[in-house]
Amino acid sequence: NFIASDIPAILKHVRKIYLIENNETVVLTASSVKIYNAERREVHREVFNVTWDADAAEKEGYDHFMLKEIHEQPKGIRNTITRRMDEEGNIVLDGIRMTKEEIENFNKVYIVACGTAYHAGLIGKTVIEKLAGISVEVDVASEFRYRDPFVDENTLFIAISQSGETADTLAALRLARSKGCPVIGLCNVLGSSIAREADATMYTWAGPEISVATTKAYSTQLAACYLLATEFARVRGTLADGQYEHLVTELEALPEKIEKTLADKERIQWFASKYANAKDAFFIGRGLDYAVALEGSLKFKEISYIHSEAFAAGEMKHGPISLVENGTLVVGILTQPDLFEKSVSNMVEVKSRGAFLMGLTTYGNYSIEDTAGFTVYVPKTD
Ligand code: BG6
Repeated sequence: NFIASDIPAILKHVRKIYLIENNETVVLTASSVKIYNAERREVHREVFNVTWDADAAEKEGYDHFMLKEIHEQPKGIRNTITRRMDEEGNIVLDGIRMTKEEIENFNKVYIVACGTAYHAGLIGKTVIEKLAGISVEVDVASEFRYRDPFVDENTLFIAISQSGETADTLAALRLARSKGCPVIGLCNVLGSSIAREADATMYTWAGPEISVATTKAYSTQLAACYLLATEFARVRGTLADGQYEHLVTELEALPEKIEKTLADKERIQWFASKYANAKDAFFIGRGLDYAVALEGSLKFKEISYIHSEAFAAGEMKHGPISLVENGTLVVGILTQPDLFEKSVSNMVEVKSRGAFLMGLTTYGNYSIEDTAGFTVYVPKTD
């Protein structure tokens, strides 16, 4: 018998797991496990059988877990989406038993999370508002839990959490439930606290994520948000004719588009090596690209230990531009067609201050080469 803080730590040895609740005490011997609650009464706990294969928690030849998990994104996205499509190509939000009336009656959605999961929430806000026509608030859990939020039984509360154990997010979920909100947990770990305390759970089938800096969980969180937004929009009747089928087709095409982006990795690594000793790096974007810029900047600082910040592209000129010196790296993210020209002009502004520009845009926008010194192209998607 073993005690561990997380399942992958003991996956090589055991498959039968007891999930321990708060304030419980365990008496564990070589031959028995007894669980007691706060009143010292023995409690019966169902055994949780882990279905992951043991090597899912191993590096499988990659230098480190983060690199492996970056490459597992196509599979994670495929699992997250295809498990929720029926034979007729309709989205089935398994685990979320909400009636048509409930989905029609929400007048607001509140997405609460921490770190990268918060950045996924920002994308979720944009797509749920745009497709389903519901107002969405997004908040970091450590702020939400200490303000008196305007939520009630007509507010759908979505907690996004890879581990399903982040204390601030769990506390925010409990606060929302105390105010009568229906709660959806968007988690990656089966049986985690947030998954257990939510009214309904939508799992991101990314597989165990060992790296502290999340990658595949983030991209599968985005896929889950797209599925939610598309299905809510269908129920609420806010989609144009044929738009639902179009969006479903786009979702199913995502894995191979990610494969194509990963295939460009040597070229991206070549460029990155030129900036290994940079002092600062700035990420700018508009709309969805601003949410992506925030995530790009977070990854940049937490992995390379180089100072980085993200700004809404239109805000750079109102102050932060004073930090741009000769050769400062500025990454412009321009994947949204209607905002492309505006973002290019923001990049020209910082270039005039000496910035070295990297562009991140979709194939076809080759005019970016007149402005950016290096560009990464990704496949177009809706
Ligand atoms: C941070 C992690 O500690 O917690 C981030 O480094 C993560 O990668 C954040 O996004 C939130 O964690 P979780 O498990 O609630 O998504």
